[in-house]
Amino acid sequence: MRALACVVLAAGRGTRMNSVLPKPLHEVCGRPMIDHVLASAADLAVERRVVVIGVEGEAVAERFPEDVEAVVQEPQLGTGHAASCAAQALAGWEGDIILTCADIPLLTSATMAELVSHHRARDAAATVLTMEPDDPTGYGRVVRDTAGNVVAIVEHRDADDEVRAIREVNTSVYCFDAEALSDALQRLSPVNAQEEYYLTDVIAILVGAGRPVAAIRTPDADEAMGINTRVQLARAERIARDRVRERVMLGGATLLDPPSTLIDIGVTIGPDTIIGPGSSLVGDTVVGSGCEIRSNVTLRDATIGDGVLLRDHTVIDDSSVGDESQVGPFALVRGGSSVGNGCKVGSSAELNRSDLGDGSKMQHFSYLGDTRAGARCNIGAGVVTCNYDGIDKHRTTIEDEAFIGSNSVLIAPINIGRGAYVAAGSVVTEDVPAGALGIERGEQRNIPEWVARWRAMREGRDRS
Ligand code: UD1
Ligand code: CA
Repeated sequence: MRALACVVLAAGRGTRMNSVLPKPLHEVCGRPMIDHVLASAADLAVERRVVVIGVEGEAVAERFPEDVEAVVQEPQLGTGHAASCAAQALAGWEGDIILTCADIPLLTSATMAELVSHHRARDAAATVLTMEPDDPTGYGRVVRDTAGNVVAIVEHRDADDEVRAIREVNTSVYCFDAEALSDALQRLSPVNAQEEYYLTDVIAILVGAGRPVAAIRTPDADEAMGINTRVQLARAERIARDRVRERVMLGGATLLDPPSTLIDIGVTIGPDTIIGPGSSLVGDTVVGSGCEIRSNVTLRDATIGDGVLLRDHTVIDDSSVGDESQVGPFALVRGGSSVGNGCKVGSSAELNRSDLGDGSKMQHFSYLGDTRAGARCNIGAGVVTCNYDGIDKHRTTIEDEAFIGSNSVLIAPINIGRGAYVAAGSVVTEDVPAGALGIERGEQRNIPEWVARWRAMREGRDRS
């Protein structure tokens, strides 16, 4: 078995994006384009992965998995020059190279594998992946001889009308014999419209040297589309999102309105989970089975158990919700918070850097910040933990089975003992021991007949 390496060209300035962000870092389906490409290459079990980056690309390279080799191309003199930089890094290495670009995010590893096996079956020096998009403008055209053999790739800018009429284009995905590529690259010259070293010229050079050049045409032009502009980025986004939704639905989840449901590529959803319209599941979100996620729910880096009900407009951010719990509507759980199993978190409730133990309830517009609440607690309506004194944050502990009456305020740092009660409306500044009642209120006074006297007084005044 011949060895296989993958080279990704990612040094171009990506000027057509009009962005301060390097093109490879623009995201498709919540993941930078370069990560899509590297993930597909990893699926092929390649021996080496080499990425060509520019100087601004150093930030890009920091995020690569450890085994990925970054090669800096400076200055950037074209795709052929970029390939030479990679070839130098691979000097002495023998085998086939699958070469692709950071701006082709939708290419699957299956298509890459097909390209490699076709290349090997033909014993080719180079094999080009081609396609026939609806609009070939901007792409290099694949020129074939009368026998149908590929003889050259001519860039759009350098093509005459006859060549521009060719519908078959270069995807910029190739398989090369490493040695043949490195030989041909040494013979490139920048004699073209852009005065750059074109990788595409390698094809005519190899053909001229009598080396076998092959091509396969992918029937799915979407898959190999190159992203040069934000318009193309939006198209790729749409296609990638469709793929993810399809994967999720085939996996057993129901999407009530697929087009309005945003699901990032890294999200997993268990079977028999139902997701309502307008919901977004992004980042590294994991949702269990049998959940009901209603409309306009946002889950970002969230971990949701099984049988969970998330009502409308709930946001779970970098936090988790345990099995059989119910959250929302209009609840916010964020900052690494956790809601245990069998909990009820109701409307306009917020948890920030807080944990709510199994079976606890926090039903109506209350706030827990920097709090650890145990199991089977009841957090009444309007309860607020005052965790911030303007300078520091302080912790609140609410032990198992504690009952915090409505509209009480717990001034942290504070501890409410196991099974303790806090009377409604209390502003509690001191710890409440286990089993005790903490009450902090003015004594109630009832003034008999007060209303009638008050009315009489008002009416007398109004008449005078
Ligand atoms: C390229 C091909 C074209 C093909 C199209 C498919 C060439 C000359 N043209 O054109 O035939 O139809 O892709 O999408 O190869 N890059 C570098 N260093 C450089 C220049 C570019 O690393 O000096 C990288 C870019 O980051 C990018 C890739 O090479 O990932 C392709 O460059 P780009 O400028 O996008 O080429 P296209 O004009 O799209
Ligand atoms: Ca491109």
